[in-house]
Amino acid sequence: MFTPMSVYLDNAATSFPKPSTVYLAVERYMREIGTSPGRGTYSRARAADEVVARARAALARLLNIPRADRLVFTSNVTESLNLAIKGAVRPGDHVVTTAMEHNAVWRCLKALESEGVIEVAVAPCGRDGTLDPDDLLSLLRPATRLIVMVHASNVTGTLMPVEAVASAARLRGISLLLDAAQTAGAYELDVQALGVDLLAFTGHKGLLGPQGTGGLYIRDGIVLRPLKEGGTGSESVLERQPDELPDRYEAGTLNGPGIAGLGAAAEFLLAEGIRRVAEHERALTREALGRLSKIPGLLVYGPKDPDRQVGVISFNLSGISPADLAYALDEMYGIMVRAGLHCAPQAHRSLGTIDQGTVRASFSYLSTTSDVERLAGALHDIASR
Ligand SMILES: Cc1ncc(COP(=O)(O)O)c(C=O)c1O
Repeated sequence: MFTPMSVYLDNAATSFPKPSTVYLAVERYMREIGTSPGRGTYSRARAADEVVARARAALARLLNIPRADRLVFTSNVTESLNLAIKGAVRPGDHVVTTAMEHNAVWRCLKALESEGVIEVAVAPCGRDGTLDPDDLLSLLRPATRLIVMVHASNVTGTLMPVEAVASAARLRGISLLLDAAQTAGAYELDVQALGVDLLAFTGHKGLLGPQGTGGLYIRDGIVLRPLKEGGTGSESVLERQPDELPDRYEAGTLNGPGIAGLGAAAEFLLAEGIRRVAEHERALTREALGRLSKIPGLLVYGPKDPDRQVGVISFNLSGISPADLAYALDEMYGIMVRAGLHCAPQAHRSLGTIDQGTVRASFSYLSTTSDVERLAGALHDIASR
């Protein structure tokens, strides 16, 4: 149970709490609208359409997507990544990725590789999770169709050199798919400035929306095979999926309440200003890194630099396993952090922590300096026992 005295620092898994407008938007949708988006012409059905269109427009503004219909809704970033990867590759293609990926990328690529559809090459990363773009670019071949990379690691927060990879990929006509699970909503993100072709995000982390929401930006000119076929409420006489976006990739009834909440969250972030949001998370990261560096026996992983990472910090304390440390923080201090591999075993191979993983503390825009002080105080206490 969440009590006012407890401290939630597992925002990289899912953010909590949400802005109050998010709770209100979900409830309003369920109580006052409750119809199926894109399926009817009566007034309450049109109200559902308006909620979805407004959410799409707010997210497009937040990510600087030139046309809102290039953003399609999914149920989470895992679905977005599956749609982008499985929809883009053809038998015989070569795909390049990094050694810091989440299983949402890794297992999807490995499944295609084990079926003999694609070949995968993996760019090594440093022990702080950093990627030298040349290590990735040296793996490109004529058959490379796609580069898939995380924007910021969910283990160390390490930011990846996206622009350098994007400009080289563009010159060679290779598509770049970015996993923005840890940056969307928490960090300045501009799909046009970054030069990415596909950007996958989840709604329930930095974007501060409900679980069960996510999306994929698909650059104009890129055509993917849909991940699923079915009703779209449009061109119903066609036996195949319509070509128009977003319908082509949004078969089945959308998550109306979730999208209503996500739209409210995006409008909240737009009103706050993403620069201010990112600066708050940088300040918390700076504060936490400074305090944690003074705790005897505590080893922090990653760049340890708030300008080179997002608000995700992995650490271990000598003499205690990550699982026991996370348990002690929760039981004795009411501090919720995550322990283990964080669904990213490749990242732990890069860091040298594959045997036990790490403890991870992660912030959101609604985290406070007092949360950081409580974490550092508790770790000091445990370390001095
Ligand atoms: C980098 C990264 N990719 C993918 C995911 C999967 O997110 P979701 O469970 O919302 O699909 C996560 C979160 O756990 C993540 O941090």
